[in-house]
Amino acid sequence: MSDARLEHAGPVAVVTGGARRLGRHLCAMLARRGYAVVVLYRGSDAEAASLVEEIQVHGGTARARVLDVAVEAQVRVVFEDVTAREGHVDLLVNNVGNYNPQHVTRLDPAVWDATLASNLSGAYYCCFHALAVMREGGNIINIGMAGLEGIRANEYGADYYVSKTGLLVLTRSLAAAYASRGIRVNMVSPGQLENSIDLPSPEEIGRWVPLGRAGTLGDITHAVEFLLDASYVTGANIDVAGGYRL
Ligand SMILES: NC(=O)c1ccc[n+]([C@@H]2O[C@H](COP(=O)([O-])OP(=O)(O)OC[C@H]3O[C@@H](n4cnc5c(N)ncnc54)[C@H](OP(=O)(O)O)[C@@H]3O)[C@@H](O)[C@H]2O)c1
Repeated sequence: MSDARLEHAGPVAVVTGGARRLGRHLCAMLARRGYAVVVLYRGSDAEAASLVEEIQVHGGTARARVLDVAVEAQVRVVFEDVTAREGHVDLLVNNVGNYNPQHVTRLDPAVWDATLASNLSGAYYCCFHALAVMREGGNIINIGMAGLEGIRANEYGADYYVSKTGLLVLTRSLAAAYASRGIRVNMVSPGQLENSIDLPSPEEIGRWVPLGRAGTLGDITHAVEFLLDASYVTGANIDVAGGYRL
């Protein structure tokens, strides 16, 4: 969809899982900040189209591309297309992060493979192809999950926690390797967001979240915006989680 070349002198952002929920909020913020936004999505055609329209109505620049990040050949083609149309990438946000918690004693190997493929391998494929066309001053922001630094055993969602822990290792490795090219790589890790599929009740949330409330999409966006401007921060992971798992 949306094949027109982005006529835009400003920076270029590519956001995975950009059509809905957190990704959509991030795309809207980036467009407001003057980025030409390439919204990557997998199945949400209508939401991607409405987001592009919404951004354009507000004077921003955006287009959308469908892909499955778990398929490296598709990622390569999408970044070839971005290179041909936008010329380069200034910001990559790896926002895809599938969470379908199963008990670890019954974790279907197919679910394990799919989670690792989308959340970790897919993020790596995007980093690999984006870095090939990223200019000095470029940024990668990976979306993690809160508590990675002191992760505890959790019988549900082991595939997800493994994928996010791996993403943190990847974040730090790339940060170290690309600093000499002036490229920063960081992670923003949400805790329980208001739209979480397993959000505790308002009465219960204080048991897990010291600040006593679920996070908003705005809370996460705020941290991403901080990293855009934080030119001396790389290899960092910022928990935006109200103290979850402290
Ligand atoms: N929500 C929370 O409470 C919470 C808490 C901690 C961390 N996080 C992290 O925050 C990020 C965003 O969370 P969210 O809940 O907004 O995300 P989400 O709704 O679970 O997923 C975002 C989008 O990812 C896309 N996607 C999934 N697999 C894909 C694939 N293989 N290729 C391409 N696109 C794919 C989907 O696009 P389509 O709709 O187009 O198919 C989906 O809309 C994730 O990394 C998540 O792990 C969220």
